[in-house]
Amino acid sequence: MSEKRRVGIWLYQNGGGDLIEKKLVVKLAERGIEATTGLNLRNAYVENGSILCMDDKGEYVRMEELDLFFSYNAGEQTQYQMYLYEALDRSIPCINNYRSFALTEDKFQTDYLLRNHALPTPDFRLCHRDDSQRLRNFMDEWKQMVYKPTDGWGGVGLTKIDSPEALDMLMPFLNQMDLRYFYVERFIDYDKTDYRIDIVDGQFVSCYGRRAGGSDWRTNVTSGGSVFLREADDEVVELAKRAADVTGLEIAGVDIIYDRNREEYLVLEVNGIPAFATPEQEKMGLDFNDRKIESIVDMIDRKTSRKDG
Ligand SMILES: Nc1ncnc2c1ncn2[C@@H]1O[C@H](COP(=O)(O)OP(=O)(O)OP(=O)(O)O)[C@@H](O)[C@H]1O
Ligand SMILES: [Mg+2]
Repeated sequence: MSEKRRVGIWLYQNGGGDLIEKKLVVKLAERGIEATTGLNLRNAYVENGSILCMDDKGEYVRMEELDLFFSYNAGEQTQYQMYLYEALDRSIPCINNYRSFALTEDKFQTDYLLRNHALPTPDFRLCHRDDSQRLRNFMDEWKQMVYKPTDGWGGVGLTKIDSPEALDMLMPFLNQMDLRYFYVERFIDYDKTDYRIDIVDGQFVSCYGRRAGGSDWRTNVTSGGSVFLREADDEVVELAKRAADVTGLEIAGVDIIYDRNREEYLVLEVNGIPAFATPEQEKMGLDFNDRKIESIVDMIDRKTSRKDG
């Protein structure tokens, strides 16, 4: 006799996430998969080999007994939650898998891997914090560069450096921040728009664009950028699929820009928790949510299927 399949979900609730979660739960039920929601590992404790996490009904769930855990909440991520996510991933299948998710949380680690698989990214450099003369040399070579925190988010902390003097002005601030290393990228000449391509389980799901707002050079919505409808051509989709494959993410949001100098597309970033379209964005015509939910449900169904089922 086979028991019912059961998956755990932790999904963001803002920006329409609560509605996405409801649809997901219904779609999973149609496949005979029961879902337990609100599993924030931040509220869990561990007893020997068991992670005990409270769900949104106030009941404790023994996480190892789940057939799969779907973790999709960037906004409420904590170090403790990530720590337990890492442990849990060794016991049951997690989406995204922890290893790939942790990789894409770091811009340098990701770009290093992408480059070693011959994927085009902006040129980047990394050096020890004591090696600041090297930063000056990069600047002499590139003329313009972007300083990035490797674990940054929403365009925060990104600094465009236009001149050797600007670098000299920035150095005291960087030194004050007690960093272990410096990560910089060549500043790319692009049209201030990007592509966001969603890939689920190796398949193309959606494409939209973002445009920087006002005089800002960053396309992030949190930096004043706006979303627009955009068709993807085969080249962009192929690049996104390869980036998702190399990082190993089951669900990936790949950001791509077009370098006008080199006349080629570059992978700017791979995101492990690409947001669904918000209700406002859906009204604008971003209509991929149902498709994306369907692809995720298909994948969960496949990954939890039992031969005796
Ligand atoms: N090397 C670069 N040259 C020109 N513009 C860049 C470069 N790197 C980033 N940008 C611009 O800045 C924006 C933010 O950069 P990036 O995606 O690397 O960081 P982030 O958005 O803060 O991180 P996350 O997407 O993880 O939240 C990009 O969307 C792009 O518009
Ligand atoms: Mg980004």
